[in-house]
Amino acid sequence: MAPALHRAQSIAQLRALARRRLPRAVFDFFDGGAEEEISLGANTAAFEQARLLPRVLTDVSQVDTATRLLGAPSALPLAIAPMGAIGLGWRGADVAVARAAAAAGVPYTLSSAAHSTIEEVARSAGGRLWFQPYMLRQTEFVHGWVERARAADYEALVITVDLPVGGNRERDRRNHFTLPFRLTPRNFLDFASRPGWSLPMLLRGQPVMGNMVGLAGGSGKTTSAGSTVGSNMDASFGWDALQRIRDHWPRKFIVKGVLRAGDAQRLAAMGCDALVVSNHGGRQLDGAMPTFDALPAVVAAVQGRAEVLLDGGVRRGRHVVQALAAGASGVLVGRGVLYGVAAAGEPGARRALEILREELTRTMRLCGCRSVGEIDRALLAA
Ligand code: FNR
Repeated sequence: MAPALHRAQSIAQLRALARRRLPRAVFDFFDGGAEEEISLGANTAAFEQARLLPRVLTDVSQVDTATRLLGAPSALPLAIAPMGAIGLGWRGADVAVARAAAAAGVPYTLSSAAHSTIEEVARSAGGRLWFQPYMLRQTEFVHGWVERARAADYEALVITVDLPVGGNRERDRRNHFTLPFRLTPRNFLDFASRPGWSLPMLLRGQPVMGNMVGLAGGSGKTTSAGSTVGSNMDASFGWDALQRIRDHWPRKFIVKGVLRAGDAQRLAAMGCDALVVSNHGGRQLDGAMPTFDALPAVVAAVQGRAEVLLDGGVRRGRHVVQALAAGASGVLVGRGVLYGVAAAGEPGARRALEILREELTRTMRLCGCRSVGEIDRALLAA
C-alpha cells in the first residue's frame, strides 16, 4: 500500500487525497450536492448531534461485526451504495470497488450509470452483487437491464425513487462540468493542473457508460452532468410501475430514497424486502430531511415487515453504530468509499472499508457491544 494511503486514518483524509489527485470539476461532481448543499451537510451533522450512552464493564475482548443483510451473511452491517460515473475518478473504479467489497465481505451495488457493465462486474468481482436500474423513459431498455442482472446472478434489485428528474447541482454548473466532459477555455487550467489524472484521460479517452450503450440515440455518453441520466428519467414512474417490476423480479427487492413513514408503510405492504432511507446523499432535493432524523419514523412504520437501511453522511464507524441503534439493519456507504477509490484505486477502496471496519469495531467495544445484535436503542441518549 502506498505510504500516503497507509497514513490515511480517516475517511476525511482519503477525501483530502482524492481532492489532491482530481481536477476540481471531477472532485466537485463526486463531493457536491444540490443547491445550497443543506441536506448534504445535514446528513453527517445529524449523526453528530446524537449522543451515545455506552454500557461499561461488559467483556468486549471478542467483538463480532458480522450480521445478515437481506437474509444473507455480511461481514459488516454495511453495503456499497450505487454510484454512477465514478470511473471518471479512477479508470475501472466500479470493478475496483466491487472487488474491495467482496474482499471485505459486504454487498456491492452496481449503478446502471456506472462505466462497467452488469456482466463485467459479475465476471470480475465475485461477492454479493445488487443492481440499481434507473427508471428511464425507455422501459424496454430498463427491462433488458433487469433480465441481464437476473442472468448474471445479481441477488437484488435496488430501485431508486428520489430521482424523477436530476437535482440542481450548482457546483457542476459553476465548473462547466458536463458528461462527457469537454475541455473548454474556462476549465482548461483545472484539468491542466492535474496531469496525473488528465494525461491518461487524454491518451485513452474518457470511459464510456457501458450499460447505456444501445440506449436510443445514445452511445453510452450522456450530456448533463448534474444528473447523468436525469434527462432520460421517466418522471411519470409511480406505484403501479414499481409493482410491475416487483412482480417480475423473483429475488430480493430494495427501494432506495424513502423519507416518509407513509411511503415506507406502503412499500413494506407491497412486498419490498428492504427500504433505504436516503436523500441521495444530498444530491437531489436540497432541504430534504437528514436521513438519521427520518429513520425512527420509517422504522416504526415498517414494523419489521422489511429491513430498513440508511445512507447519507456515513463517514465514521460510529455513524454505523448510531444508525443501527436507531433501528437500521445496516447502512449504505457512498462517498466514503468513493474518496478511497478516487485517491488510489482498489487499494484506496479497501483502505476506506478497513478504516470503517476498525472504527466500527472500536466503537462497539467502547459502547459495550460484543455483537451487532447488542447495538440497541438504549445506546442513544433520548
Ligand atoms: C450517487 N448516488 C447514486 N444513487 C443511485 O441510486 N444511483 C446512482 O447512479 C448514483 N450515483 C451517484 C454518484 C455519485 C458520485 C454519488 C456521490 C452518489 C447516491 C448514492 O447511492 C447514495 O445515496 C449517497 O452517495 C449516500 O450518501 P453518502 O454516503 O455519499 O454521503
